[in-house]
Amino acid sequence: MPKTADPPPAPPTVARLGPRTGLFALMALPRGFGGILPVLERVHRELGDLFQLTLPGFKPVFVAGPEPIRQVLLENRHAFLWRPDADPVARLLGRGVLVTDGEEHARLRRLMEPSSRRPHFAPRSGQMWRLVDRIAGCWPAGQAVDMLVEMRKLALLIFEAVYFSHDIEPKLPRLFSPVLQILDYIGPGMWIVFGAKAPPAAIRVLDEHLYGLIQHRRGSPNPPDDLLTHLVQALDDDALVRDQLLTMLIAGHDTSTSHLAWTLYLLGAHARWLAQVQAQVRDVLADDPPTPENIGKLTLLDQTVKESLRLYPPIHVGNRFTAGDVVLAGCHIPAGTRVMVSYYLVQRHPDFWEAPAEFRPERWTTGFRPAAFTYVPFGGGPRNCIGAAFAQLEARLVLARLLQRFRFTMPRQRVSVYMGAALEPRPYLKMEVQAI
Ligand code: HEM
Repeated sequence: MPKTADPPPAPPTVARLGPRTGLFALMALPRGFGGILPVLERVHRELGDLFQLTLPGFKPVFVAGPEPIRQVLLENRHAFLWRPDADPVARLLGRGVLVTDGEEHARLRRLMEPSSRRPHFAPRSGQMWRLVDRIAGCWPAGQAVDMLVEMRKLALLIFEAVYFSHDIEPKLPRLFSPVLQILDYIGPGMWIVFGAKAPPAAIRVLDEHLYGLIQHRRGSPNPPDDLLTHLVQALDDDALVRDQLLTMLIAGHDTSTSHLAWTLYLLGAHARWLAQVQAQVRDVLADDPPTPENIGKLTLLDQTVKESLRLYPPIHVGNRFTAGDVVLAGCHIPAGTRVMVSYYLVQRHPDFWEAPAEFRPERWTTGFRPAAFTYVPFGGGPRNCIGAAFAQLEARLVLARLLQRFRFTMPRQRVSVYMGAALEPRPYLKMEVQAI
C-alpha cells in the first residue's frame, strides 16, 4: 500500500495573554480605557506582533507589526470586513462610507473623494486662519484656556466651513454637548461587554442640523462647490446623504481636535523646541497670514506635527472583523474575530523607532522615510483616511497662525491619555496664552 502523505499541520493559533498580564489589563480598566495602552505595549513586547486579548466578553486580536498590518490594510483586505451592524459606530452612521464594505464603499469613496483633494480645499485656507482668529479672539489674556475644548470648537467651525460652506458658530451652544454625547457613545467603553445605549436626544439634535442643511442645499439655485453639494446632487436619498455628512463631521473634526490638542501639549511640554518653532514661524511669515505655499517653509512645525501624529495617533486602532477563517502572519484566526490594527503600537515599535516613547521631532529630517507600514496615522490601502490631505493642511495652518499670534505656556497639570473615539489629552489641556 502506498503511504499517503500526512496532512500539513494546522497553523498555530494567535499567542494569548497569560493570566499575569491579563490581571494587569483588568486592573488597568478602572483607570479608563486609556490605562490599557501601557498594558498593550507590555503584551506586545511579551507576545510579539500578533496577540489576542482574552478579557471577559472582549477577545480582539491585535496586529502590531508592519507586515501583518500591510496584509490587513492592503494585500489581504478582502478577508476583513468593517464592523457588524450591532456595533455603535455602525448603528450611528448607518450606511456612512466609514462603515460600509465592498462595492457600496467603493462607490461612496468615489463620490466623496473630490471634495477632499487639495486643489479643492486649498483655496479655502483663508477661511481657516480667519476662524482661528475668531476663536482665539475670545481667549482671556494671560489666563489658562482649555485647549481641548477650544480646538474642538475650531475643528467644528473649520470642517463645516470647508465641507458644507456653513458657519456653525451660532449653533455651537446647542450642538456642542450632543456631539460630545455621541462621541462618548461610539468610543470604547463597557458597551463592548454589555452593549451600548444610543443617546436618542443627542442624535435628534444632530439630525435636525444635518437634514436642515440638506433641505436648504436642495433648494439652493447656486450651490457652492463642496461636499454637501456633491452629495445632494448625486444621491436622492436624504438618509444616505445624512449618513455621509455625519460620518465626515464626526471623523473630520474629532481627529483634528485630538491632533491639535496633542501637538499643543507636546509644544508646551518642550519649551526650548517650542521657542525654535515659533522663531521660524515669525521669520517665515512675519506679518503675513499662513498660506498653503508659505507653510511649506515651516520645516520645524512640519517635524512637530509628524512626531505628534506618531506618538499620539488620534485613531489609534483600525477596527475589522474576519469575514471567514484567515491565516495572518502564519497564525489561524477564526471567522468573526474582532481584529484591531494598532497604529499606536506600530508607531512605537522598538524594532523600527529609536527611543520610541520620546518626543524627538528632529528625527523627521528632510529625506527621512519610515519603513513601510510603521507610520500609519492615516491608515493605509483603499480604506485610508479620506481627509488626510485636508487634516494635514489644516493642522499646519492652524498651528502656524496660533504660534504667529500667541505665546503659550503650559501650567503644571496631570494630563492622561484618554481612549475615546479618538485619543485625547484628559481631563483637560490648560494653556496660558498671551498675545504677541
Ligand atoms: C489628524 C486628523 C485625522 C487622522 C489622524 C485620521 C485618521 C484616520 C484613520 C487612521 C483612518 C483609517 C481607519 C481604519 O483603518 O479603519 C481614517 C479613516 C477615515 N477618515 Fe480620517 N483622520 C483624520 C482626519 C479626517 C478628516 C479631516 C476627515 C474628513 C474630512 C476624515 C474622514 C475619514 C473617513 C470618512 C474615513 C473612513 C474612510 C474609509 O473607510 O474609506 N478623517 N482616518
